Amino acid sequence: MSRLSIIAYSVCGLFFSVSLAFSLFYGYKVITHDLPKEKKAVETYNYHFVLVPEELDNEYWKLVEKGAQDAAKKYGVLLEYTGPKQANIDDHVKTIEMSAASKVDGIMTQGLSEEQFTPLINRIVASGIPVVTVDTDAANSRRLTYIGTDNYYSGYLAGKALIADTFGKINVAIITGSFYANHMQQRVKGFENAVKSEKRINIITVQESEISRVKAAEKANQILQDHPEVNAFFGTSALDGIEIAHVVKKFHKQHQIYIIGFDTLPETLNFIREGTITATVVQEPYQMGYEAVKMMVDHIQGKKVPPIVHTETRILRKADLPVSTQSGKAEGN
Ligand code: BGC
Repeated sequence: MSRLSIIAYSVCGLFFSVSLAFSLFYGYKVITHDLPKEKKAVETYNYHFVLVPEELDNEYWKLVEKGAQDAAKKYGVLLEYTGPKQANIDDHVKTIEMSAASKVDGIMTQGLSEEQFTPLINRIVASGIPVVTVDTDAANSRRLTYIGTDNYYSGYLAGKALIADTFGKINVAIITGSFYANHMQQRVKGFENAVKSEKRINIITVQESEISRVKAAEKANQILQDHPEVNAFFGTSALDGIEIAHVVKKFHKQHQIYIIGFDTLPETLNFIREGTITATVVQEPYQMGYEAVKMMVDHIQGKKVPPIVHTETRILRKADLPVSTQSGKAEGN
């Protein structure tokens, strides 16, 4: 071996040993740094819950999620929020089934219908996973508890508000989120019973929006064309009243037509402020989410949980709003 090749071999050898030392050192660091981190992430929560809403990006459900996330932080819960992008019963059911299959510690969702949700909830509860119904109850199921509005009573309040706010002959059209869902049926029933004995009030038609803004607007449009005698609307889910208001304004009928909606989303409050919507039914979505998580934790920890918790519901009108309010904030919640 020449002198030159000895030098070349020694340089290569040195280079190899240095890089080996580096990779061992940094490799070790990566391993020792990463592992405890992962372990930490696994250990930072006590329970894993899933909240399955009717519609993921719906502003109303975002408030339920906010409450649930706040409680989750407080009680050391990993909370997953997952469900249909647009309201769809089959996707909703599938998401619940998948959550149950992944063996979470608790599921919070609506009990939209007795036919599809009661057997599903019962199966999940029998497999050892507690279910809390939120916003809509499947009252005959083995769910742990229901937290949400008394939906019949909230519809009843809306009917009484219509009576109090109007005089003379009233022909009312109802746009409801769904003909099929328990809470929507109860809201309509409550409303019908409240106005039943009032001879001057007639329900002309009940149409379905399928929780879709576009459909709510289409239905309001159609109603105004098919039933020019309609001079009042009741929208029974969070987006219905908003879309009714848009359509009524488009027809320049905001001074002739009375609107009562549901929920206190910023758009609804703006319509109340300007007088297009006269009244809305207040619900407490943040509290529903918060208490649902809290009660699930209480149950897992062996504490007794009541079978039904009704959150407050009431009518809100312009006079109930603070004079100046921050935009983008849902008041009344
Ligand atoms: C109802 C929710 C529904 C939402 C739709 C609310 O009034 O309580 O169940 O998903 O409206 O926008």
